[in-house]
Amino acid sequence: MNPKRYLITSALPYANGLKHIGHLAGAYLPADTYVRYLRAQKRDVVFVCGSDEHGTAIPIQATKEGTTAQAIIDKYHGVIRQNFDDLGISFDIYDRTSSPVHHETSQEFFTYLNSRGDLSVQESEQYYDEEAKSFLADRYIKGTCPNCGYNSAYGDQCERCGKSLSPDDLINPVSTLSGSAPVKKKTKHWYLPLDRHEEFLRDWILKGHAHDWKVNVLGQCKSWIDGGLQPRAVTRDLDWGVKVPLPEAEGKVLYVWFDAPIGYISATKQWAINNQKDWEPYWYDKDTKLVHFIGKDNIVFHCLIFPVMLKLHGFILPDNVPSNEFMNLEGDKMSTSRNWKIDMQDYIDDFVKKENGGPQAVDMLRYYLTQIAPETKDSEFTWKGFQDAVNSELVSIFGNYVNRTFVLMHKLCNGKVPRLHEDVMDDKDRELMHQFAEVAKAVEDDIEHYRFRDGLFKVIDLARKGNKYMQEKEPWIKAKDSDGMGNPLPEAQKLIDNCLHLCLQSCANLAILANPWLPNTSRKMLYMMKVVDKMLDWENAGKTKLLSVGYSLRAPELLFRKIDDTEVIAQIEKLQQAEAKAAATNESGIRNPESGISHAEIKSEIVYDDFAKLDLRVGKIVSAEKVEKADKLLKLEVDLGFEKRTVVSGIALHYKPEDIIGKQVVVVVNLAPRKMRGIESKGMILMAEDAKGKLHFVLPENTVEPGSGVS
Ligand code: MF3
Ligand code: ZN
Repeated sequence: MNPKRYLITSALPYANGLKHIGHLAGAYLPADTYVRYLRAQKRDVVFVCGSDEHGTAIPIQATKEGTTAQAIIDKYHGVIRQNFDDLGISFDIYDRTSSPVHHETSQEFFTYLNSRGDLSVQESEQYYDEEAKSFLADRYIKGTCPNCGYNSAYGDQCERCGKSLSPDDLINPVSTLSGSAPVKKKTKHWYLPLDRHEEFLRDWILKGHAHDWKVNVLGQCKSWIDGGLQPRAVTRDLDWGVKVPLPEAEGKVLYVWFDAPIGYISATKQWAINNQKDWEPYWYDKDTKLVHFIGKDNIVFHCLIFPVMLKLHGFILPDNVPSNEFMNLEGDKMSTSRNWKIDMQDYIDDFVKKENGGPQAVDMLRYYLTQIAPETKDSEFTWKGFQDAVNSELVSIFGNYVNRTFVLMHKLCNGKVPRLHEDVMDDKDRELMHQFAEVAKAVEDDIEHYRFRDGLFKVIDLARKGNKYMQEKEPWIKAKDSDGMGNPLPEAQKLIDNCLHLCLQSCANLAILANPWLPNTSRKMLYMMKVVDKMLDWENAGKTKLLSVGYSLRAPELLFRKIDDTEVIAQIEKLQQAEAKAAATNESGIRNPESGISHAEIKSEIVYDDFAKLDLRVGKIVSAEKVEKADKLLKLEVDLGFEKRTVVSGIALHYKPEDIIGKQVVVVVNLAPRKMRGIESKGMILMAEDAKGKLHFVLPENTVEPGSGVS
């Protein structure tokens, strides 16, 4: 039995900057695919999202851009919302947490929990900046990471090693507001005692959802629960956010992770107001299926904390929280601070808003992002991979099949849907026809279980099968079997009719099945087939008589264009330039006031013994070759005097293999071996990096024997 209604949410993005395609692939595109499918199923569904406009991320960005927090959220709320719209993410509402409805809703939530004794109050010592007269939220404190020694780690996380921290972990903390060392000062906060709900969480998640939640989600939940749940502060000493609705809480706001998920409820209310609907069943009725689409860094909030809040308030709990892992980019983690990313805005500018772009460019991105979706493990976006997916699947398989079908139907069947002559049908015909319903069922099952990648693969596979069928049937050869006046003999025409009848019906099925992923493509196919939107209703999937015999169809239009090599190269260059620029202006660097050039910050101090652990030797490159499918890597053979070693080095964008044979280099020879692209790399070559990010070999002034020590 299907649930009565669905409420689908995508994580509310912080309105503090542009969002990249890794975000899109994680929480938005899969949700949109799911929702489009549900709508085609005629189910009652509301898809909500909006801007997360609180937390320290916003005022910090405001300081960076030299403006106000309000200006920041207004700017990015607008841009991000438009970006989603441009890429076909079909929210029913894109709300914002600065709205009055949200402030009221989250304050009521807090008041309700507090009045029932579900929150606890604790005094604690927090860092306070005496110059700025302000308590310091985690992001306003920097110091040395106890884990890796990086000296610009934040109070909540080290951006270098990724470890999550608390302000007390930092060595030599400083306030980023005034630069002074903060002091400890007493303050009072409200806490959500998660420890009281351990049993509920264990039962509900680890028992109740052991079989329908994703393994990666369950794993994270289990490790949090087993690690011992602690009360979590739900208020902060900050002036940007939803005010804590208590007289004694002057100067305090709700913690952003308390108010933001309540944003899903506020957005539903706002949607209901806009559409004269009732929001309550969506949050109270057990017949509602609530699904949160998120990225993996949001798991604890959506699976443990928010559900406890929902339970305490008497709302329904999520039925599933399909969370994705991360998407890497061209061999490296996507990163906003290092500018190693492709913003939605970049793709829109470079592909969608181009003359040869438009809606088909939107579907090209949706296709590739789904095909490499990090559903079970981290995945990687490469421009070459994008090109391959578009050129060899969308263009050569899907587009080509639809195009050939329409061209041949015009050429051999007068531009009309030919009839099916049952008397001459063979097994191949029946097999293809049989596929429609079978594929439809399988795709449906994939989507219902959040396997969007598999589902899309099956759709393309149906086109692949269609191509193969047509290739075997060769209607163009049968057409030569003619009466001498250019017309095929009646028996031959029957075979041609059957082939094209079935190919056309399969194209109609493709339009229905592809629609959740490639809505623009399906729409274009509808136009070519001269049928109304209603045909895309999922109940039509698998049917064999979607197009009526004798109905005349339009001429084909190309569904997808090819991606050129030059586009791939240009995009990779663009990435590298952006990264180099970010490195040069990185705020955590040391800036020389005379030259204006920024340098990386000095790492924390070491003693001679630390240095002496390094074994550096002079080596000579004896061979070099490119590593397949890794644009940055070269595989080098280095003569070290005592042995030859394989070293994989990330210098392919700076040196051609043939130019570096015979070069002397300095190698770290006692570095633990590391596998890169399946090749074991034993050692590391020292390189100097200039301000533009270009790499240069570090080498002895004169030629010395390979194996010579460096110290
Ligand atoms: N703004 C958060 C992020 O980008 C996500 C908030 S999701 C919500 O990581 F549930 F809190 F809204
Ligand atoms: Zn660290």
